[in-house]
Amino acid sequence: MTRIFLVGFMGAGKTTIGRLLAERLGYAFLDLDEWIQQQVGLSIREIFERMGEAAFREMERRALRGLEAWDEVVVALGGGAFVSEENRRQVRRLGISIWLDCPLEVILERLAGTTDRPLYRSAEQMRELWRARRPAYEQADLRVETGRLTPEAIVEEILRRLPPRSRCS
Ligand code: S3P
Repeated sequence: MTRIFLVGFMGAGKTTIGRLLAERLGYAFLDLDEWIQQQVGLSIREIFERMGEAAFREMERRALRGLEAWDEVVVALGGGAFVSEENRRQVRRLGISIWLDCPLEVILERLAGTTDRPLYRSAEQMRELWRARRPAYEQADLRVETGRLTPEAIVEEILRRLPPRSRCS
């Protein structure tokens, strides 16, 4: 299986790490949010504001369905994508999932001052969402505790723990 999915909360580093990991493996990199934005021609915030969260979730679901055509790819999922059981099933069918388990305090530092995430309102509300989503993220195949490690160190850790089949094409 040569599709690797990075899951985890907003601000956990899925895009940064995904890009690096793809480079190291010689795989393509796909950021699912980026992909959706390109397809729709609107930013994630605009999609939420104009069409609502349910419409965005449907786009996410469809985008995941479309990944069957991709191989040798690292995919960064949006923070809510792995919460849906149907999406988890699809990810399981397609490849291996890695949970970037990032401490809440690090996430809050990163999110403070950003404006591109429509679900981010307050630290308190993030804390609740972070807690509520952990049981879903726990269902990923691998869990990597990122702590305050550098992206390079996290990628090393992932490479060390990836099943051999995903490490070579
Ligand atoms: C979301 C996370 C965002 C984006 C959207 C919803 C979520 O992606 O998909 O704003 O529900 O957690 P990132 O995790 O890349 O910020």
